Amino acid sequence: MKNSLLISVLLLILSMKYTYSWSYNPVCWVRECCHDDYIPGDVKKLRQVLKQRVYGQHLVETVVDALAGHLNPKYAPPKALVLSFHGWPGSGKNYVSKFIAESLYKYGTKSKYVHHFIGRLHFPLVSEAKTYQDNLHSWLKSNITNCARQLFIFDEVDKMPPTVLDAIKPMIDYRDIVDGVDYTRSVFIFLSNTGSGLINEHYEELWNRGRQREDVTLNDFELMISKGAFNEEGGFYLSDTIKSNLIDHYIPFLPMQEKHVIECIKDEFRQRDVNYPNPQHIKQVLEFIEWGPDTTKLFSKTGCKRISSKVMLLVAKHYNEKTEL
Ligand SMILES: *[C@@H]1O[C@H](CO)[C@@H](O)[C@H](O)[C@H]1NC(C)=O
Repeated sequence: MKNSLLISVLLLILSMKYTYSWSYNPVCWVRECCHDDYIPGDVKKLRQVLKQRVYGQHLVETVVDALAGHLNPKYAPPKALVLSFHGWPGSGKNYVSKFIAESLYKYGTKSKYVHHFIGRLHFPLVSEAKTYQDNLHSWLKSNITNCARQLFIFDEVDKMPPTVLDAIKPMIDYRDIVDGVDYTRSVFIFLSNTGSGLINEHYEELWNRGRQREDVTLNDFELMISKGAFNEEGGFYLSDTIKSNLIDHYIPFLPMQEKHVIECIKDEFRQRDVNYPNPQHIKQVLEFIEWGPDTTKLFSKTGCKRISSKVMLLVAKHYNEKTEL
């Protein structure tokens, strides 16, 4: 009797071990661990979801390619991957970051390996810059010591005191190991409005010259943004990180035009199971949007932000009750 119980327990453990062949540590059966099962790094999924759910931002393709290169297990990356997203609010910087977290980590933004710092929230005071630096340094170091595959998202970089980001410079530099810690497997993403004025102007210029949005390339913007980021106030201002070219890719988020905003609105309806919204309702949402610049009114000043709350109201009012009937 006792023996058969023992045997079945052993069998159970063996079978679990077979299913989760990696889990020599049984804790990983129930808790997130630094392993492929929890960090799938699914770049294919990312490519697909960006194609389906992000509108008018074909340049984010570069992000997928950069991640694919960095995560390729065959070639050890020479340094941590550092991406910097620039654009007006609502152009999709946060939105894309969320999709990145979701395709790289099983638990997405809730993963303990995904960190989200917000300029005004986490680093509000210029006078505390030194403390922020020290904290950042020790957080990053201890987190990366635990698991090399971390994702750090720094939002509102333009609202951070300058110099805070200098703390991470040694961690994103071309060095395999710093103090016995391997930083090369981590990914850093900076989000800011820095350079968005330049991006919008330049895009408008290209647009006026008849360039198709889809034909606009990264080269049209990259140098301009890096210079702009260097000179505008905030976390990049005269920053060592920028000065020494440690940012691998600058990704401009182009301003959203009416047709992209309409796509966003339709997407919001779809997320609430309304596949064929009444065109009148789409128009109603569009009416809330402010357009700029004053001369051409070509772009939505808030991109696709705040659309979801408007759509939610309409769906509650006109659609939900109908489907319940
Ligand atoms: C890991 O980073 C977070 C910030 O995202 C910090 O609160 C936490 O203390 C760090 N963990 C360690 C062990 O330092």
